[in-house]
Amino acid sequence: PAPAPAAAPKLGFTAVAKNKNDLVTVPEGYQVSILHALGDPLHFGDESWKDDGSESADSYQRRVGDGHDGMHWFGLSDTGTYQADRSDRGLLCVNHEYVVAPYGLHPAGRSAGATRNAAEVEKEIYAHGVSVAEVKRDAAGTAMVRGSRFNRRVTSATVMDFTGPARGSALLATKFSAGGTQTRGTNNNCANGYTPWGTYLTCEENYLNVISRAAGDDAKRSAKEVAGLNRYGLPQNRKSPYFWETAGTADLFARWDSSATAATAADDYRNTINTFGWVVEIDPFAPDATPAKRTALGRFNHEGAWPAPAVAGKPVVFYMGDDSRNEYIYKFVSKAPWDAADVGKGMAAGAKYLDEGTLYVAKFHADGSGEWLELTFGKNGLDATNAAYPFADQGDVLIHARLAADKLGATKMDRPEWGAVNPLNGEVYMTLTNNSNRVANTATPTGSQLKPDAANPRYYEDVKGGSTSQKGNPNGHIIRWREDAASVTKFAWDIYLFGAQADAAADVNLSGLTDVNDFSSPDGLHFDKRGMLWVQTDDGAYTDITNCMMLAAVPGKVGDGGAANAAGGTSTIKGANATADTLRRFLVGPRECEITGIAMTPDSKTLFFNVQHPGEDGTPDWVAKTFGSYWPASQADAAAKKRPRSATVVVTRKDGGEIGL
Ligand code: FEO
Ligand code: CA
Ligand code: CA
Ligand code: CA
Repeated sequence: PAPAPAAAPKLGFTAVAKNKNDLVTVPEGYQVSILHALGDPLHFGDESWKDDGSESADSYQRRVGDGHDGMHWFGLSDTGTYQADRSDRGLLCVNHEYVVAPYGLHPAGRSAGATRNAAEVEKEIYAHGVSVAEVKRDAAGTAMVRGSRFNRRVTSATVMDFTGPARGSALLATKFSAGGTQTRGTNNNCANGYTPWGTYLTCEENYLNVISRAAGDDAKRSAKEVAGLNRYGLPQNRKSPYFWETAGTADLFARWDSSATAATAADDYRNTINTFGWVVEIDPFAPDATPAKRTALGRFNHEGAWPAPAVAGKPVVFYMGDDSRNEYIYKFVSKAPWDAADVGKGMAAGAKYLDEGTLYVAKFHADGSGEWLELTFGKNGLDATNAAYPFADQGDVLIHARLAADKLGATKMDRPEWGAVNPLNGEVYMTLTNNSNRVANTATPTGSQLKPDAANPRYYEDVKGGSTSQKGNPNGHIIRWREDAASVTKFAWDIYLFGAQADAAADVNLSGLTDVNDFSSPDGLHFDKRGMLWVQTDDGAYTDITNCMMLAAVPGKVGDGGAANAAGGTSTIKGANATADTLRRFLVGPRECEITGIAMTPDSKTLFFNVQHPGEDGTPDWVAKTFGSYWPASQADAAAKKRPRSATVVVTRKDGGEIGL
């Protein structure tokens, strides 16, 4: 007989009050320290961070990058292999999503002008990507092991392989790899995933940050190519906010202009855009292994890729969100059944499970049922007869997964962010952070606007929060579903929780939030192995009252939210009611930050989370040293006048106990 399911844990800490302090505030009895921050050297031979932006561009290939985001802990054995149950020694993989607006990695911010300084851009290219750092915990605390042979940077210039069905596609051909089998760099790595065999997944989200396209480029392309480019947000004459392509004619810079400039795609970088938007696998235990862009998981603004617990003999399953307004939720099901003997086999296991399988997109029905629609060439009209975009083959379907999902009539969501699978019952949760493109049921939608639907049921005006009122679904919600035991294409869903201010009207504060647990714009999401759910916020609607935060929850199950998931923004829609016993604020971050990324050691005694972009809204004065935040320096010294930096924070209990209980 199957073992009885473990009991849900009980929240056992005192809720942290909302605040606007320039500090990480944790519950009484807890303590924080900084593991690493922007610019810290991973190896010996480079100087420590100097708070003046003088670090060389080249040194960022060996320093911690900027914009800390998704991350994962991999236990490290004494022989340097994956040890899933190890808590006092591990490899922490951290995404470095982007270079944060104060540009604290340069001497005086970003140089003015639309033509970028080459040294600055080179530094920014190396400050993106992923860091792998060895971490050790002992009586003195938890610290990075500087100089570890595992310490590694993957940047926006690192060589990577394409694998899976789109490998070798003409749509991936570039001057760098005429055969479309390789590319360089991973960019704008937002959330993440991990695999049951012990590798890291990093996911490419807002890659349009660094990709431009020239005026007049449409005339050099087929109508089909133009349709693909427009659907992925890159119309002609669209310039990226970073203007990397203006820094020089060298390949390092020119490749960010995704325009047709030569006779064939093998001689220019018109396909640069198609080389981003993927899930990338990195083996943290093999620093020399080439990362792989696993094309079977589709191309879109990947937030992350979260595995369901692996079951011997069953396919390996990953859930993924496309974080843009009115985009979709996907799942990938491997062809190969799981075999625990593959743990530790690195990229070879990745090829086995991630290069062959089926990609699906979600459709949420109003009656609480749902369907996974298959994105396979030749099925469901995904072929050359599709009028909006005629598909050539499976590689084309994956490179243009959004257009395939459009054809199938998948449900357009309120910005799918992080997912998490409840280890106690297998139910899947996903944050829908907010959506300014929802309009009232009575309105006539224009452009990309949509009316509410059952799974995205809210339209309201957030008159209380934020510096200005926001309309649509400004506070977001969390949806969840239970897979059908008998069918890979069916599920049942409800809405778990609605974001709101505690003092909002009852038809906005649908989950009954109070001062101990009210929040807005859920983004990061994580189930720890005990079944405690962690919710992180990246908010712009409630930041007049409080900085972004992380909450702990003990959720119930699908169905607790009630059957009335009717559309229309009315009070008939209920998330499960949240009480102080089931949802409680665990921490509040420093000013102008987002709380993102979470990892916990297997013994649940050390928690890692990331503070991204503290001080991003301020207008820095580099001479007087005035910033919107002085964190992390402000954590130890309230009078500190140092540059704000994204960083990884370590949280422990002073009594050494388990986090959250
Ligand atoms: Fe980088 Fe979807 O947040
Ligand atoms: Ca995010
Ligand atoms: Ca976000
Ligand atoms: Ca943000």
